[in-house]
Amino acid sequence: MSHSLPLVGATVERCRRLFEPALREAVSTLDPWGARMAAFALGWSDADGRPYHGDGGKGVRPAIALLSAEAVGAPAESALPVAVAVELVHAFSLAHDDIIDHDERRRHREALWKAYGVGPALLTGDALLALAVRELAGLPEAMKYLSAALVELVRGQSADMAFENRPWQGPNAVTIAEYTEMAAGKTGGLLGAAAAAGVTRGAASGAPGLADRMWEMGRDLGVAFQIADDILGIWGDPNVTGKPVYNDLRRDKKTLPVLAALSADLPAARELASVLSTGVTDEPSLRHAAHLVEEAGGRAAAQALADRRLSSALAALDECLPGATELRALCAALANRAR
Ligand code: IPE
Ligand code: IPE
Ligand code: MG
Ligand code: MG
Repeated sequence: MSHSLPLVGATVERCRRLFEPALREAVSTLDPWGARMAAFALGWSDADGRPYHGDGGKGVRPAIALLSAEAVGAPAESALPVAVAVELVHAFSLAHDDIIDHDERRRHREALWKAYGVGPALLTGDALLALAVRELAGLPEAMKYLSAALVELVRGQSADMAFENRPWQGPNAVTIAEYTEMAAGKTGGLLGAAAAAGVTRGAASGAPGLADRMWEMGRDLGVAFQIADDILGIWGDPNVTGKPVYNDLRRDKKTLPVLAALSADLPAARELASVLSTGVTDEPSLRHAAHLVEEAGGRAAAQALADRRLSSALAALDECLPGATELRALCAALANRAR
């Protein structure tokens, strides 16, 4: 759904009309059970398989792939396998991520594992990943970036999990540099693959090294996008995001607003440290912790870091693809969605 990206709604819708039929076609080749669960995850049917027009996600990764191809003069259609593959990998990563994070809600509905069970949700994720690999089987240049993104995704998700058991403060505390590496992996790799593989579809018109620059651009953009997701995970409107607030705080996730707040030399930061050290679980303490994060400047500092990463991404775009106005506007909207 594009309602959470109002400034670029028309672009996102145009891209969705292009890629969704190809995505549906790919999913329809699964066995009926797998296809039903995939259709639920993608917002096309309810848990019983009845047609449903739900939140299928913003579709930003396929949009980046299609717009990147257009930016190098290739028809958007030439990047359809890339668009489909990155959205399949994204859906796979969400199916597994909600199990890892114990999150029960996604896209305004039950998470896939809540609706069907952990085993079936893991398998659906595997099936989506398998379809993605098949999409790019004949496109080795695109596959190079998708496989790099998969390795990065697993690295980033592993770090994200490991950070849950690291302290908030002291010599073993998670640093902002470690957070940035983690976010570049779990979120940036796939955005980078979408842009880089997208421009490979116009290889003849692409400058040497362009795809690698787009990969780096996507990693910067991914860090900015993840910071926005972290902010929305504390102060977002669940009616817009389709996900509840405070789950990251409950699970001791090392999100950037909290890390930044704790690094401030302020009474609110010291109170936050003491609140977090006891573990926050009940609703009033969660609300209080969120308030302290904001008072210690964590929200503003997180948005400022997102802005810096977005500026790097936009500088790369302006230099490499100066005419790509829709792509540029989409990238900016992704980093600004938590304002
Ligand atoms: C959510 O991604 C997971 C992150 C990488 C932050 P999106 O915000 O793109 O999720 P959908 O596809 O719109 O639901
Ligand atoms: C985002 O993870 C990255 C992946 C899904 C691989 P998060 O755990 O931060 O994303 P949400 O908030 O659950 O969508
Ligand atoms: Mg999650
Ligand atoms: Mg996660």
